[in-house]
Amino acid sequence: MKIWHKIGKLAQPLTYRRAWRRAQRFIFRLPLGPLRTDIDQERLREIQQRYAGSTAKYAKYANVDPWLRLNRERVQDLKLHRSAPKRVLDLGCGGGFFLFILKKLGHSVLGLDIDQAPLFAELLDVFDVPRVVWRINAFEPLPDLGQKFDWITAFSINFNLHYPGERLWGPAEWDFLLRDLQRHLAPAGKIFFGLNPSFGGNYYTPELRDFFLRRGADVERARIFFDRGVRF
Ligand SMILES: C[S@@+](CC[C@H](N)C(=O)[O-])C[C@H]1O[C@@H](n2cnc3c(N)ncnc32)[C@H](O)[C@@H]1O
Repeated sequence: MKIWHKIGKLAQPLTYRRAWRRAQRFIFRLPLGPLRTDIDQERLREIQQRYAGSTAKYAKYANVDPWLRLNRERVQDLKLHRSAPKRVLDLGCGGGFFLFILKKLGHSVLGLDIDQAPLFAELLDVFDVPRVVWRINAFEPLPDLGQKFDWITAFSINFNLHYPGERLWGPAEWDFLLRDLQRHLAPAGKIFFGLNPSFGGNYYTPELRDFFLRRGADVERARIFFDRGVRF
């Protein structure tokens, strides 16, 4: 049974896409060693000791190594380690792992996040990643960020949750955000969203998936990629 399951999976395009991404990461490597050299290890250790065993929200991010590795994959998958310098805005940037790697690679970076987790402020400081403090709300435009961006990204998103109703944003909320992001994008700019499975465990409703496709996104489970801009 197991072997048929495996063969069945091989026939799925999704399996090929993932395997291709893994192969590309292997071929076009991005060693973390040189990237780590600028991190103040003493300060990082002090932060880690303070958060060891902490139940604070997001305390798991104090153990930076797995998150650096995860974000290295994100950088590799978007091919940003093989690209000319870009201006990148990361929404809900958290501790700034993704932008730290990009900055070390020569890109110009800006994070945007609410200021709710002191750990994230400390990590952003250690990584020397700039952040605009801002809460993304449905149907509210982002502030003037003083520049245009070649890339706008957001990973493990949770600004798209309505509380206390526990409802995910639908097409109307996403449409507003996409139109607003367009104002901040340079010509030929790209947008990438990495969704979180939420509430019922799904990334989106069929209706929202169709909406992303209509707007020109490549949709692959959590990955919503507007590689050639947004279609309005
Ligand atoms: C699960 S964490 C992911 C952090 C980071 N993107 C990463 O992948 O490591 C979600 C992030 O979204 C931020 N966030 C949640 N709601 C937000 C909102 N309404 N506006 C802006 N950021 C928000 C949180 O503060 C947090 O940094």
